[in-house]
Amino acid sequence: MDPSPALTLAERETLPEEFRLILAEHPRDSWAAHRDFNGLAAFWLERHLAFRRMLEMLGSDTRGLLDGRIAAESYAPRLSRLGSRLIGDLMGHHQIEDDVYFPELARLEPRIARGFDMLDADHHALHGLIDRFVSGANAVLGETGEAARREAVGRFLGDLGAFERQLIRHLEDEEDLVLPVVLKHRVG
Ligand SMILES: [Fe+2]
Ligand SMILES: [Fe+2]
Repeated sequence: MDPSPALTLAERETLPEEFRLILAEHPRDSWAAHRDFNGLAAFWLERHLAFRRMLEMLGSDTRGLLDGRIAAESYAPRLSRLGSRLIGDLMGHHQIEDDVYFPELARLEPRIARGFDMLDADHHALHGLIDRFVSGANAVLGETGEAARREAVGRFLGDLGAFERQLIRHLEDEEDLVLPVVLKHRVG
C-alpha cells in the first residue's frame, strides 16, 4: 500500500503521530536501559550508525577533493570501496527488513502495521537515490578532464546531500517505529 503524499520520505519531517503508539510506551531515552537492549535492538542501531558514518565519510572525502585536501588518485579508490560497501550493505539490510522483520513486527503490532508499509515505501525511494548515487559516482570516476570532473564532483556532492538527508530521515523514523516493538515483544 502506498502511503499518502504527506508520508513520503522526501516530505516527512518526523514519524507521523499515528505510528507513535508503542514509542509512547518505550521512548527513545529508555531504550538503552531496557533488559533486552543488547540484542537485536543494539544490533539494529549499530547497522544504522555504520550507514551514517559511511555517508559522512563520502561527503567529507568529496568536499576534500573539491577543495584540494585529497588528491584524485587517493579519492577514486576510496570512493569505489566505500561506495560499493555502502550500497551492498544497504541493499542487503533493506531486503531482510522488508522480507523478514517488517512482516513479523507488523503482525505483533497491527495497530501500527501501516507504518511498516511506509518504511517499505521509503526503501523504494532510497533505491532511486542509490541509482543516482551510482551513476554520479561513475561519472566522477570516469571524467578525466579537470573541468568536467569538477562539474561531475559538484553534482555528485549535491546528490550525496539529498541521499544523506533522506537516509537519515528514514533511519530515525525506522528506529522510532521498530525499536519499541522489538523491545516490548523481546524479538530476536
Ligand atoms: Fe530501512
Ligand atoms: Fe534499517
